[in-house]
Amino acid sequence: MSRPLSVAVAGLGTVGAGVLKVLRDNADLVSARAGRPIAVTAVSARDRSKDRGVPVAGLRWYDDPVALASDPSVDVVIEAIGGSEGSARALADATIAAGKHLVTANKALLAVHGAELAAAAEAKGVSLAFEAAVAGGIPAIKAVREGLAANRISRVAGILNGTCNYILTQMREHGREFADVLADAQKLGYAEADPSFDVDGIDAAHKLAILAALAFGRPVAFDSVYVEGIRRISAVDIGFATELGYRIKLLGLARQTEQGIETRVHPCMVPQSAPIARVDGVFNAVVAEGNFVGRVMLEGRGAGEGPTASAVVADLIDIARGRFTPVWGASGSALSHAPSVPMSAHVGAYYLRLMVVDRPGVIADVTAVLRDEGISLESMLQRGRSPGEAVPVVLVTHETRESAMSKALAKIAALNTVMEDPALIRIEAG
Ligand code: NAP
Ligand code: HSE
Repeated sequence: MSRPLSVAVAGLGTVGAGVLKVLRDNADLVSARAGRPIAVTAVSARDRSKDRGVPVAGLRWYDDPVALASDPSVDVVIEAIGGSEGSARALADATIAAGKHLVTANKALLAVHGAELAAAAEAKGVSLAFEAAVAGGIPAIKAVREGLAANRISRVAGILNGTCNYILTQMREHGREFADVLADAQKLGYAEADPSFDVDGIDAAHKLAILAALAFGRPVAFDSVYVEGIRRISAVDIGFATELGYRIKLLGLARQTEQGIETRVHPCMVPQSAPIARVDGVFNAVVAEGNFVGRVMLEGRGAGEGPTASAVVADLIDIARGRFTPVWGASGSALSHAPSVPMSAHVGAYYLRLMVVDRPGVIADVTAVLRDEGISLESMLQRGRSPGEAVPVVLVTHETRESAMSKALAKIAALNTVMEDPALIRIEAG
């Protein structure tokens, strides 16, 4: 057997410690599949005295993670610190500059600096591997970039944030409060260091930007992703969704249109019969549509120690074997420069829930606004009767343009019979 692959791990939290555990517990099969042993030889974290749940004594310890890149005995550096800047970025730059392979679970880093990092890795002829960065344990990167490489992909969509899916599932199934469920997700190691990245949709947008780059063979374009999170999803809307035959999911969606590429992350109402509607808890799903393969859906755990470490170790096995794929599936010079389509051009159906004063003529005022913006209604629902008080009214539209919907929403919110900000949720096929 060849000499072991020598690995340095920067960050010994959920992901980094998980990698040490997989390499310890599955050492035999990992070395059989890698063709040689994979040995962690050096580590870095902030607190030397912290119990990592796995022994680190005997490994070279670096207080400065960037120094791992210049350790001459290290072949591969795993960056499991997090964040698009600071130590994570400095380590990624230094590792590639030193001609070493880089494995990272850090979608923020890739979404923001992926284009430069990929160019640097290509120039140095080293791997930049990131299977764990999108959808945790699901081999989504390999599936889209390699498994579906023969296809022209028209759409990728997915549940890309385990924390949000866990929160929405718990709210629906157990009527639990948002903040209470978020605290659980933090304890379970699902949430980002700053959980607003999860609940405000930013983490899902990082992952979508990466998936879209792979699916459409273009440089990663995080700034073009439209983003809305789940903070405004209420128990009232979860109840109406169920009544109307939908589930509310935070989806990331990327689509090739005639104008270019549309990328968006926002809560969606998805028909209960759609396979993605039944993906609950911390599970993620990725759906891709290719011109020869048709529709493919992958489902699995999107966060947590085991699933994420499983993906990181898969990358190490590829590196140990010398399997090498260009970062975005094709070399930098072969990438497309398809334009990004603004959200205002999106066309779809909408769920709109208003709290209106229960008195004659109110619905006529609302529907007059929709008429003026050329928006056609599919259905309307009013529950309860409390003259003079606020009651919920739900409107479901036919397909309409986002720009028309935004104008209508602003006019409806300004009506003096509308008592609070309207709730708008886009409807998607799944
Ligand atoms: P985490 O549990 O917070 O661990 C971060 C680790 O980085 C800690 O061990 C910390 O050291 C270390 N660290 C922080 N700053 C450092 C510095 N300046 N120098 C050296 N070490 C430093 O984070 P995580 O959940 O493992 O996430 C790591 C990365 O994986 C992030 O990019 C995240 O987005 C990504 N990711 C996470 C998951 C998940 O389910 N958690 C899934 C997929 C991807 P101390 O322990 O000493 O404080
Ligand atoms: N915070 C992320 C999530 C971790 O909840 O999905 C996995 O990327």
